[in-house]
Amino acid sequence: MKVGLLIGRENTFPQAFIDRVNEMGTGVTAELIRLGGTHLDDDIEYSVIVDRMSHEAPYYRAYLKKAVADGVTVINNPFWWSADDKFFECIVAQKLGVAVPKTVVLPTKTYEADVIDESLRNLVFPMPWQDFINYTGLPAVLKPAVGGGWKNVSIVHSLEELWRAYDASGHLLMILQEFIKFENYARCFVIGQDQVLVSRYDPARSHWDRYVPGDDGLDPELRQRIVDDCVTLNRALGYDMNTVEFAIRDGVPYAIDFLNPAPDFDQRSITPGYFEWVVQHMADLVIERALHPPAPPTDLRWQAMMDPSLPTHDV
Ligand SMILES: Nc1ncnc2c1ncn2[C@@H]1O[C@H](COP(=O)(O)OP(=O)(O)OP(=O)(O)O)[C@@H](O)[C@H]1O
Ligand SMILES: [Mg+2]
Repeated sequence: MKVGLLIGRENTFPQAFIDRVNEMGTGVTAELIRLGGTHLDDDIEYSVIVDRMSHEAPYYRAYLKKAVADGVTVINNPFWWSADDKFFECIVAQKLGVAVPKTVVLPTKTYEADVIDESLRNLVFPMPWQDFINYTGLPAVLKPAVGGGWKNVSIVHSLEELWRAYDASGHLLMILQEFIKFENYARCFVIGQDQVLVSRYDPARSHWDRYVPGDDGLDPELRQRIVDDCVTLNRALGYDMNTVEFAIRDGVPYAIDFLNPAPDFDQRSITPGYFEWVVQHMADLVIERALHPPAPPTDLRWQAMMDPSLPTHDV
């Protein structure tokens, strides 16, 4: 049985993960996938595929949908990943009892050239900006509904700053969010929906120093709530490889970003201790999935989790 890996421009996780799976001697082997166009009738030789790049390479996403249709376990489910966004995730979180910042989704600033005023007669103009900031307060965060790497994330302190940031957002779908003035911050690795490693994370530092090794500084009850929230969110969304960030204000953990289905696993940024945990848990996960294939994804898990009267199969 083989595990295939699709990667981006990362240099530490891929080889460490492949070596770990191959060294474990379970009969499951791992390798980088090589692709160059896919036929309808191609056989896919992998039992499990770990996808760390299809969000930036659409052909990979198309290949992975075929893989799911052919019975391959893909981490993470490409269908759900394609449908997901940070506004919808806040809705799911709120309905499942996970605290989230007050959030507004906004019409995009720009459209394709042939979309003219007449095409947008459902939209009110001007937008009720004052209402938005009455709801979120200031400062607020304007950020893409789907995004990563802190790209196009702005913290705005006034309507003027909000307009400037919005005007620069172009075609991107943006959300405006209450800024959580935190006393503490945690970022959690979540593997296989229930393996959670809570780490201290300091967003004020440079990219390479944000993960703080050692004690996370959280009291046990708060840490347990964070772990439980991580499991709730990842079970609801169906992600097997994700990171979940929490800003802690007045002892309440607010989920800030939990749409990280190809999280940064670079040894240098996540530090060697967390890296070792991630490599081992990812290796354990793919071996388990290769040896005991789960039923293919059939439904939207969050629906069953929100409504106890619905059948709870596959949750
Ligand atoms: N509502 C908020 N309250 C406080 N801080 C926030 C909020 N939203 C975002 N931030 C800050 O901005 C950072 C980037 O936001 P976010 O994580 O949503 O973007 P991202 O591009 O997905 O980042 P990453 O690549 O680290 O996942 C967060 O780590 C956090 O420090
Ligand atoms: Mg992110």
